[in-house]
Amino acid sequence: MKPGFSLMKHYLQFKDFRAEEYAYLFERARVIKQRFKNYERYQPLTDRTLAMIFEKASTRTRVSFEAGMYQMGGSVVHLTTGDSQLGRAEPIEDSARVISRMVDIVMIRTFEQTKIERFAAHSRVPVINGLTNEFHPCQILADLLTYLENRAPVHARGYDLDCLKGKVVAWVGDGNNMANTWLQAAEILGFTVHVSTPSGYEVDPKVAGISRSDCYKVFKDPLEACRGAHLVTTDVWTSMGYEAENAERLKAFADWCVDAEMMAVAQPDALFMHCLPAHRGEEVSAEVIDGPQSVVWDEAENRMHVQKALMEYLLLGRIG
Ligand code: CP
Ligand code: NVA
Repeated sequence: MKPGFSLMKHYLQFKDFRAEEYAYLFERARVIKQRFKNYERYQPLTDRTLAMIFEKASTRTRVSFEAGMYQMGGSVVHLTTGDSQLGRAEPIEDSARVISRMVDIVMIRTFEQTKIERFAAHSRVPVINGLTNEFHPCQILADLLTYLENRAPVHARGYDLDCLKGKVVAWVGDGNNMANTWLQAAEILGFTVHVSTPSGYEVDPKVAGISRSDCYKVFKDPLEACRGAHLVTTDVWTSMGYEAENAERLKAFADWCVDAEMMAVAQPDALFMHCLPAHRGEEVSAEVIDGPQSVVWDEAENRMHVQKALMEYLLLGRIG
């Protein structure tokens, strides 16, 4: 932590921050991204170390955190279940006590949310959720930054988050970690999520951790969920950790493929997003993900910019 900066925060779910903190973070992400694009060195985290703990696979999360930390002047330690004592039943609390004495910040990708909460409760340094069964807040940060880049006016103090108010995000697919995090974002930032899942895969507001029921509407028919939407988004039918259900899910989700017909009933300028990895022909058609409304590559890149802003905020507080 910065000397004299004593208010330690973790980022374990989207609702850990307030709307006004998001306005700050997105503005920092915009500035940090601009510096990166201009090849300007920006190294506020020199001599800081990030520990990344992966209990599930990753491409984007690993590369974005690792590249981002090096670009900001810091360094990274990469741990997995298989190559650390985490896989040999060392208690999560003991791991947290030890790891957090040696590094400045920790990112964890794991299974149950309770695991990351237990780690954070015993950590001396900020902990970031890099995906759990219940939530994926860093991905929604990137998704919102991507939406703002495409649709929000930039004022003197940054993106106008009011442009999100009243907007509709269509969620087509599994009521999973991404869906739960979208619901939290909607509750905080004032938009509505139209959720369509096969039966048996619904979102559960208790698991999603939301308190208001007006931030989402449930639709049986995915086409109806997309009608009038400003953003259409989906995710894999089978998330990591649920592979044993794959055959069953392939059948249950067959009608939950975002295709041109669904995009056609959304707003004419609706964006398409997917956190990736994608399976063309399953949750999205190739025509949509590779089509003109898709912003998935910017969305993936923005993981890095917004997480740099997040790490800066957690370690240094507000700049300026
Ligand atoms: N979207 C996302 O988190 O990708 P990875 O699983 O590759 O990290
Ligand atoms: N819902 C997916 C997201 C992958 C980035 C999963 O948890 O596997």
